[in-house]
Amino acid sequence: MSYSTAPTNNGKGKPKKQRLELTWIGKDEEIKLEPRILIEDPEKSYGDPNTENMLIHGDNLLALKALEQDYAGKVKCIYIDPPYNTGSAFEHYDDGIEHSLWLNLMKPRIEILRNLLNQNGSLWISIDDNEAHYLKVLCDEIFRRSNFVANVVWQKRTSPDMRATIGAGHDHILVYAKDILSFKKIIKPLPKTEKQKATYKNPDNDPRGPWASSDFTAQGFRPNQMYSITTPGGVVYEPPEGRCWKNIESVFLNSVGEGRIWFGKDGKGVPRRKTYLSESEGQNAWTWWPNTEVGHNQEAKKEINTLFGPANAFDTPKPERLIKRIVELTTIEGDLVLDSFLGSGTTSAVAHKMDRKHIGIELGEHANTHCIPRLKKVVDGTDGLPLSESLGWRGGGGFKFYNLAPSLLRKDKYDNWIIDEKYNANMLAAAMCKHEGFRFSPHEELYWKQGKSTETDYIFVTTAFVTVEQLDKIHEEMSSEESLLICAKSFAPECEDRYTNITIKKIPQMILGKCEYGQDNYDLNIIESTEKIAEDQDITDEDNE
Ligand SMILES: C[S@@+](CC[C@H](N)C(=O)[O-])C[C@H]1O[C@@H](n2cnc3c(N)ncnc32)[C@H](O)[C@@H]1O
Repeated sequence: MSYSTAPTNNGKGKPKKQRLELTWIGKDEEIKLEPRILIEDPEKSYGDPNTENMLIHGDNLLALKALEQDYAGKVKCIYIDPPYNTGSAFEHYDDGIEHSLWLNLMKPRIEILRNLLNQNGSLWISIDDNEAHYLKVLCDEIFRRSNFVANVVWQKRTSPDMRATIGAGHDHILVYAKDILSFKKIIKPLPKTEKQKATYKNPDNDPRGPWASSDFTAQGFRPNQMYSITTPGGVVYEPPEGRCWKNIESVFLNSVGEGRIWFGKDGKGVPRRKTYLSESEGQNAWTWWPNTEVGHNQEAKKEINTLFGPANAFDTPKPERLIKRIVELTTIEGDLVLDSFLGSGTTSAVAHKMDRKHIGIELGEHANTHCIPRLKKVVDGTDGLPLSESLGWRGGGGFKFYNLAPSLLRKDKYDNWIIDEKYNANMLAAAMCKHEGFRFSPHEELYWKQGKSTETDYIFVTTAFVTVEQLDKIHEEMSSEESLLICAKSFAPECEDRYTNITIKKIPQMILGKCEYGQDNYDLNIIESTEKIAEDQDITDEDNE
């Protein structure tokens, strides 16, 4: 860590203001990210066809970049559990890379994750002592120190590791808010556990229901809170030494009138205040999360064994109860939860069972071998895990599976980003067909028939501006039983409701992509046709070069 003191203006004028920052090799190297497309693989999607839940197979930096266009500011809770950089070799992914490299991997990802959060959203990062303290400083820089919420200590083990000098009994969970003030307004108290609820009783048949009693004294000497109390059984009490009663006398008498003060069964006890279960909100969370409340590593392994069998286990899962607590503190039903290091799929599975929307990203093959089967079981209501039982989850919903398409762009000889000619017109059309559930099968003569879903339902993809005249011309060529979906980059507003058998909509930003290097308008020449519409296409690859 260092204070940056060097003047950044070649010694002229005032030096740049000093700031505390963590520096490492490669920190300031620019990362070139070209836009990538997420393409749905309908054969791997499952359940409700209208679901917004996404399971993405691919590198999370590229996938997050692809999501940024449509999801910036929309995610309420992000949980990530990145490789801890411990040097262990896990079966399903590499862990243990040089510290600077690890920080270089994390920084751009956390920057995009922050962009995805909405104003009252929060990021929760599981990490252990190998990188926790470096990660904290990195996150302070990205989020600002004032948006640091807490370092939760999760008790991950049940007993010390006898091989270690001082064994790690906990992981850290670093918590950051997009905006601390907004986050404070939405974070919820923890609901009472059954054990806590059981401490509420109703020995006097109070119509307000079960209650627990608490001390009616406060520390110090406040003259108007120093009075004698005579109990219904006739015993007189004064405040104990160094203390006063909790309220002034009139408030106390009012509470007695309402039956909110307890003097013991015989009416002779020291007064105590009643707190009703129905009126108590639960407790604010604190940073100590014992495994009795949120599970431990062995519990997570057991869950994985239940799901996949011991032969097909996943090395580093988190227990469902741990994720449940994060989701329940920070979100309500319908909110969007994201995990970009999905592993065996725990976050998506838990969010789904709690009726939250979810996006999960996983690089490894276990996106296929673990995440898909796990989420299918969740959708079917057959995962057989204790959390499903306690939530009363019976199944429902669905998820869509996406792959990252190959890169759209390459550099030309002048170092400009251009559409790779390998990514030709047909590939984009094919990508859109997949996205919209059509089969890519270009018609030999009619350029607007690029794909179909039935013998009469067609799709046409264009990045040209579609005018009313062009639409009329296409309509003339259609037979009355045919329908057409046009996916265009832009179109005249009158096109929208002009024909009942033609639907026109914009190609999602996610698919067009937005290049971050100065150019944000890659007009893809995606139809090769002599028709007017093709002539109107703005830029071809050749133009770019
Ligand atoms: C510690 S595991 C997450 C375990 C998860 N919390 C669970 O309960 O199963 C970390 C995961 O991050 C994935 N991962 C590592 N680098 C990635 C990347 N660049 N993009 C997407 N996933 C990545 C690994 O393949 C691994 O599955």
